[in-house]
Amino acid sequence: MSKIKNANRLTGKEVRAIAKQNKKIIRKLEAYKNRKAEETEYLGHMSKPENILEIDNLHTYFFTEQGVVKAVNGVSFDIPKNTTVGVVGESGCGKSVTSMSVMRLVQGPTGQIYSGSIRFNAKLDNGETKVYDIAKMPMDDIHKIRGNQIAMIFQEPMTSLNPVFTIGQQLDEVTFINHPEATKEDAKAKSLEMLDLVGIAMPERVYDAYPHELSGGMRQRVMISMALASDPRLIIADEPTTALDVTIQAQILDLLRDLKTRIDGSIMLITHDLGIIAEMADYVVVMYAGRVIEKGPVSEIFHNPLHPYTIGLQKSKPTLSSDSDTLFNIPGNVPNPVNMPNHCYFKERCGKCIGKCSGEYPRMIEVTPNHFVACHLYGKED
Ligand SMILES: Nc1ncnc2c1ncn2[C@@H]1O[C@H](COP(=O)(O)OP(=O)(O)OP(=O)(O)O)[C@@H](O)[C@H]1O
Ligand code: SF4
Ligand SMILES: [Mg+2]
Repeated sequence: MSKIKNANRLTGKEVRAIAKQNKKIIRKLEAYKNRKAEETEYLGHMSKPENILEIDNLHTYFFTEQGVVKAVNGVSFDIPKNTTVGVVGESGCGKSVTSMSVMRLVQGPTGQIYSGSIRFNAKLDNGETKVYDIAKMPMDDIHKIRGNQIAMIFQEPMTSLNPVFTIGQQLDEVTFINHPEATKEDAKAKSLEMLDLVGIAMPERVYDAYPHELSGGMRQRVMISMALASDPRLIIADEPTTALDVTIQAQILDLLRDLKTRIDGSIMLITHDLGIIAEMADYVVVMYAGRVIEKGPVSEIFHNPLHPYTIGLQKSKPTLSSDSDTLFNIPGNVPNPVNMPNHCYFKERCGKCIGKCSGEYPRMIEVTPNHFVACHLYGKED
């Protein structure tokens, strides 16, 4: 018994060795983040001109005292222009860390983008376009994309709204950041226009209110109006309706859909609710344990899911005709994030294993145009 216990516990010597190694890597990555760099150092090219964002082999790690948590472990997917891309997967699979990496909001020094590219097709005020590799941008230059080119809407708006300032003060601030030449009157007019746009009936009253005076649904509308105030090309919405009741949820989703058309932009929509994906997304990315295991057009993923995990995820979706007692649950657990196996991460939970599954991690293959899966069941016989 005690032997098993000890096998899971690190010795003091091991902990010290991990800490030393972490310190060395973190120091290097922090210096890279905080360097001064010419813009040419992080300019790039999109692989496909129709994309607004290309995440390419992204690795984002947390250097903890237990070891390295590979929260995002080689994630690649694209967001085409004027498209909603849904990112799904169970809790802890790396959805939020992927989006925080795009916004460069990963909590350092423990959390760090370790490698990979995040290419973003930015459109400047003068109409010029530039491709920035966000992963390589120094922190000093992040203002070029964060909050103006890319805006983020979080699950719980209270975490992003400042409780000591009125909604109006916070909304005006967005205008001042993006248009420093704006007068107080210009900013207020823009703020009221944005509040009106997101369906707030009495914009003047909400403008003067503090966040705690509003309901959850109203706060989420305010957050969306803030995201909108900067005319972003991409909105990242991380579980934007999870904290809201069903009626308000539907209203907020309608609003998001409407906004996409209005800003002529794209949405990266993170959720664990497949119903929301079916309703909102054009393209789906399924994540499991820090990796993308299947991706494709929404109709393909719903009508022809290939990966056993995606199939399980669909069976676990509650329907009106099923009650929660009969809800299908994918048995088993995700492997320990600091010690991932070399084979397919889903193997221990998979009912369809074949001999090859004990071998190397399956590579991503394109099964039908634009429908990709990482599973040995679909690899070529060789
Ligand atoms: N600050 C941190 N320190 C260590 N590990 C972290 C930290 N933040 C996230 N992680 C780990 O990174 C992994 C991915 O987390 P992430 O928050 O992206 O999951 P998620 O898919 O968004 O889940 P959820 O659906 O619950 O929001 C998890 O294993 C999590 O434990
Ligand atoms: S690779 Fe093998 S273990 Fe992994 S999901 Fe496919 S069949 Fe299952
Ligand atoms: Mg999350």
